[in-house]
Amino acid sequence: MSYLETTAKFYSDVAEDPMVGLCCVQSTPLQLPGLNVPTLMQEMNYGCGTTVHPSELSGDPTVLYVGVGGGIEALQFSYFSRRPQAIIAVDPVDSMRVAAQRNLAIAAAENDWFDTSFVDIREGDAFNLPLPDNSVDVMAQNCLFNIFEPNDLARALKEAYRVIKPGGRLVMSDPIATRPIPLHLQQDERLRALCLSGALTYNEYIQALIDTGFGQVEIRARRPYRLLGKETYKLNQPLLLESLDSVAFKVPIPPDGACVFTGKTAVYAGNEDYLDDRAGHIMQPGIPLAVCDKTATNLASRFPNDIVLTPSTWFYDGGGCC
Ligand SMILES: C[S@@+](CC[C@H](N)C(=O)[O-])C[C@H]1O[C@@H](n2cnc3c(N)ncnc32)[C@H](O)[C@@H]1O
Repeated sequence: MSYLETTAKFYSDVAEDPMVGLCCVQSTPLQLPGLNVPTLMQEMNYGCGTTVHPSELSGDPTVLYVGVGGGIEALQFSYFSRRPQAIIAVDPVDSMRVAAQRNLAIAAAENDWFDTSFVDIREGDAFNLPLPDNSVDVMAQNCLFNIFEPNDLARALKEAYRVIKPGGRLVMSDPIATRPIPLHLQQDERLRALCLSGALTYNEYIQALIDTGFGQVEIRARRPYRLLGKETYKLNQPLLLESLDSVAFKVPIPPDGACVFTGKTAVYAGNEDYLDDRAGHIMQPGIPLAVCDKTATNLASRFPNDIVLTPSTWFYDGGGCC
């Protein structure tokens, strides 16, 4: 069996026999007025963060959700796009699609506003999406791409890029590793399927997005996810995994490099009325300007005495410029 087959088998098993707490994080599930998540669907919450960010769901987007799981995020996305087939959910595992369909039917009985026609569940996988080029506004995946080995991750990202419309976005949540994961764990197929041993480091993860062609990346959250202990995982030191929520935009990469927003701001600390860096940033004294990491680095080296940079908050959802 290849690790992808091991993964499919694992998710087939947990579709039939839910594994509570498989991937969950220490944060409250998205609560919305009038949204009732059925218990069975909640028990099959196999995500490691969230990909449902209300601020980017205006304009009635068509959403492609890859790796449907128990359907919890498909339901949450539907909340914002209440029309037939607004959400297309893809999964290669037969029993997972059956479980998601069943859970969505329960959700329809428990939520007046929801109809199962809002979610179109299709057979397909991340490497071969059953959709034409440039056809969706938003593609989301939660806790799936971290399972893929680097070459397969590149293939999945390329396929995502293909189906997303120009200007559209790829919303992801995945574990990342605070240092490279040793080979003996990477090669453990079950741990990979459990989202515990395939994670890249933060820099590798962001670089994979940029290598695919995404010109702008925004970090929505970064928080502790799991600690791999020394004894259990045969490590010299415990290894912390974090959960990273990000949004990557299908926009051209600027000539001086992609813009990655991690919540940094630049503040002009000089005595003039304003500082104009002649690269599109005009800063008034004392007023923080949201900047991408590239601009932060440039400003710090050009104006070391006049600019104060605030550290990454690991939350950014608009404003400022890169
Ligand atoms: C960790 S679960 C996440 C489920 C869901 N995203 C959630 O947040 O609850 C991974 C999901 O991806 C599906 N999957 C496994 N291999 C896949 C592939 N090659 N392409 C697409 N989905 C896949 C599994 O069946 C499962 O539904």
